[in-house]
Amino acid sequence: MKNLVVLTGAGMSAESGISTFRDAGGLWERYPVEQVATPEGYAANPELVINFYNERRKQLLDVRPNRGHELLAGMEGSFNVTVITQNVDNLHERAGSSHVIHLHGELTKVTSSRHPNDPRYIRELRPDEYEVKMGDKAADGSQLRPFIVWFGEPVPMIETAIGFVRKADVFVIIGTSLNVYPAAGLLYYVPEGVPVYLIDPNEVSVASARKVTVIRKGASEGVAELKKMLSE
Ligand code: OAD
Repeated sequence: MKNLVVLTGAGMSAESGISTFRDAGGLWERYPVEQVATPEGYAANPELVINFYNERRKQLLDVRPNRGHELLAGMEGSFNVTVITQNVDNLHERAGSSHVIHLHGELTKVTSSRHPNDPRYIRELRPDEYEVKMGDKAADGSQLRPFIVWFGEPVPMIETAIGFVRKADVFVIIGTSLNVYPAAGLLYYVPEGVPVYLIDPNEVSVASARKVTVIRKGASEGVAELKKMLSE
């Protein structure tokens, strides 16, 4: 089977009702990114940050994977699918995707404030634990923090992601403005000659001279179209 590698961003989950970041009315318009998505913001006001992610986490209980997530999961019948996502929701997994790499962390997990990337302290929350409080401690005694990669922090999963991108036979980008690195740079590792598709209802500027087949549609319709194109 061919390797289908998919890079997804917030637009993938938009049709499930989760806001994107940079579109009009997006999250970063309502919450200053420096406050809720940087280590400095967390140091300045941990409670605000913990509550921001508590809200995001609770939203997971109200949303469902959309047709786009489901169609992608269904493509595992014809391809070795690797989903590399910038999203911190769990909608790819819930739709049935079996190989998902989260570049920016996962809402359903928490970790140590002191050693956020130490696997000994990363823990999956049960839905009844989704509300983290000040004073809740990781196994090393530090405040429990969201397992989210904030701006200015290393992206430990990028090397793993690059390894899969290098072996791609087809590369697909869905619902990301390609503003955030290193995720946006994954395109550079796609081997020469490998077809690249981009699904997004809006124009996305791709910082590469590479030929990209653009499917100017939302995720659900766009993945349906992609499936057709790949089976032709
Ligand atoms: P952005 O909000 O920057 O971009 C969302 C993209 O989704 C845009 O290109 C939209 O046109 C597109 N879009 C909107 N509706 C869509 C739909 N129905 N179907 C498909 N696409 C749609 O989000 P990201 O590129 O994911 O990081 O942002 C990257 C990172 O920046 C995030 O992971 C987050 C953020 O700050 C952290 O929090 C660390």
